[in-house]
Amino acid sequence: MYEHDVIVVGAGGAGLRAAIAAHEEGADVALVSKLHPVRSHTGAAEGGINAALRDGDDWTDHAYDTMKGSDYLGDAPAIETLCETSPEEVIQLEHWGMPFSREEDGRVSQRPFGGLSFPRTTYAGAETGHHLLHTMYEQVVKRGIKVYDEFYVMDLAVTDEEDPEDRECHGCVAYDIKSGDIVGFKANDGVVLATGGDGQAFDHTTNAVANTGDGPAMAYRAGVPVEDMEFVQFHPTTLPSTGVLISEGVRGEGGILYNAEGERFMFEYGYANNAGELASRDVVSRAELTEVNEGRGVEDEYVYLDMRHLGDERILDRLENILHLAEDFEGVDGLVEPMPVKPGQHYHMGGIETNEHGETCVSGLYAAGECACVSVHGSNRLGGNALPELIVFGARAGYHAAGRDYGEALVQTGPSAAIEHEEDLGAPVEPGALGPADDDVAADGGERAADEARSDGGQLASASEVVHRSVERQRQRVERLKERDGRNHAEIRKKLQKAMTRWVNVFREEEGLKKALEVIKECREEYQNVAVSDPSGTYNTDLIHTIETRNLIDTAETIALGALARDEFRGAHWRAEHQERRDDEWLKHTMVQWSDGTPELYYTDVILEGAEKTYEPKVRSY
Ligand code: FUM
Repeated sequence: MYEHDVIVVGAGGAGLRAAIAAHEEGADVALVSKLHPVRSHTGAAEGGINAALRDGDDWTDHAYDTMKGSDYLGDAPAIETLCETSPEEVIQLEHWGMPFSREEDGRVSQRPFGGLSFPRTTYAGAETGHHLLHTMYEQVVKRGIKVYDEFYVMDLAVTDEEDPEDRECHGCVAYDIKSGDIVGFKANDGVVLATGGDGQAFDHTTNAVANTGDGPAMAYRAGVPVEDMEFVQFHPTTLPSTGVLISEGVRGEGGILYNAEGERFMFEYGYANNAGELASRDVVSRAELTEVNEGRGVEDEYVYLDMRHLGDERILDRLENILHLAEDFEGVDGLVEPMPVKPGQHYHMGGIETNEHGETCVSGLYAAGECACVSVHGSNRLGGNALPELIVFGARAGYHAAGRDYGEALVQTGPSAAIEHEEDLGAPVEPGALGPADDDVAADGGERAADEARSDGGQLASASEVVHRSVERQRQRVERLKERDGRNHAEIRKKLQKAMTRWVNVFREEEGLKKALEVIKECREEYQNVAVSDPSGTYNTDLIHTIETRNLIDTAETIALGALARDEFRGAHWRAEHQERRDDEWLKHTMVQWSDGTPELYYTDVILEGAEKTYEPKVRSY
């Protein structure tokens, strides 16, 4: 068993920042990741990092824009922390050597981005995430932080008291991809989950194949609620054949969207008469699909994004990467022709419920970055707000896990913060209606027997015992998967992705969401007979993908459940039957908790009262 003070799971932007912070706080830190750090999906982030750095800008304006972008579902204390701290984190990156794009006078460049009232998105060409990742990885290497790369974390080592708020996390269990061993990691002070998104629940996504919701699924099965999972972001400009991202930076620099008739539809059809192409992403994605649905799309599928008028020099200086992507993946030369684009799954606003220190309701378990929901994005994230979230809340989680005292959190976590349960709302899903817990549920946390966490004398198990038992459960799970005959996970994953893309997309309706839940239930049942046909120990990607598919089933179910229950239109969550935001009923966060093998919905208050001001919900228009 490996042992460290703080174990950070995932080595993208949030994980690297958390590790550096915990190390600065004096902890012995380890990063554990299924990928080499610089292969993490943060490297695919193109556009930039929002930070109020310039004269004429102020972090309070950034906070207002973020709250408005969230459609008033963000928590003010978290949003204010994000916007107030982002400038110092960006300056820190600059001091660490991040190669930001610059103005003639040497200042770091900033560009406009969707939904912002000031051009406050700092960037490094259209490869901002790539440079962020490399800059922070250098700091990790410099500090000698131990990196266990190609270790796939399969489960958390958590005690099993009945009330999740009494549980403790003592570490995690990983499959060592190189050796094939199942190994334990004991964390003396804390585990920080920073595993990124779950875009692989959809079949048209900007997300990498590694984005399989591992962190949220593990935390959820350990009893931590997942928050606001119905809010999924569909980015308006992805390449139609692959889902590869074409940065919002193109529109930030002045790129224009046209329909098949050559009309600048954002203005022509009044989708956003002020901001046009730079309205927030939910607005632009709906506009594009409306164009297609009303017969003004190209090949009934997409629209055009044109940047030719920006001129070769500017494109090559600020957007060169976009030229390569359009050429390599679509065969289009962006200097001489418009690029085909359509909406694609890009980001998950929902995730593991945390407070503004990164803490979950399970003691010793933290989360940060896309896998978490500290609730800065609410129902719609603004472009350029993901990277500051990674560094601001990655750092806070790392410092806190290593012992820094931030005082009492303003955001409450855990089921005791519930204001109402789904029964009160007459929600359409009965407990247990989503199919039985599968064989693996018992193995990976849903039904840990109470006596397992206790030693023979009835004493509470030591931290090492908790980790050891989790390792044993995962060993048995892998043996079972390899020994039995059964279905390959890939068919189940494909079926899940198709259902999510068809029914839980930009436009949602009640019947479709119910169908999606039916298919998810079937996937859960079929997964009971899933088997791994590759017997090898090392580099067994069949095994890894099989475990990931289980995680996708769990996160997809929480997305569809939350979406069906929320009968209003807010931010990225559009409902055919409910065309209004309903603050009287729905100004609240959706929580889903895994309870005795059944997802349970409950709700908590949104905090609109910040230190700066109270954010009164207004009509949101761009
Ligand atoms: O469009 C983009 O460059 C993506 C940025 C973001 O998701 O924040």
